[in-house]
Amino acid sequence: MIMKPFKITTERMLNILAHSQMEEREIGSRCGGYGECGGDRVIIAHELQKAYFNPPTNAERDQLTPDQLKQGMRLGCQCYPNVSGIEITLHLP
Ligand code: FES
Repeated sequence: MIMKPFKITTERMLNILAHSQMEEREIGSRCGGYGECGGDRVIIAHELQKAYFNPPTNAERDQLTPDQLKQGMRLGCQCYPNVSGIEITLHLP
């Protein structure tokens, strides 16, 4: 199934998995948000990541290849905005 990109408005300290759930979008979480399954992959543009999100966590570096990280891939449960009120588009791989 191909998932269309969708927009979210960031809430500080709420991870992207939770944002997706608030939008009633299933993005592939299988471990409940513990950074273990690697299923909740999203793509966020690097410039947005640098400006508004935490850097990739150890769990993301374990689950994603360097190339995937270069493509802007993140795990939704590990990715937290540092500001509220920013509208961004989430792309799903
Ligand atoms: S929900 Fe399993 S890695 Fe994020």
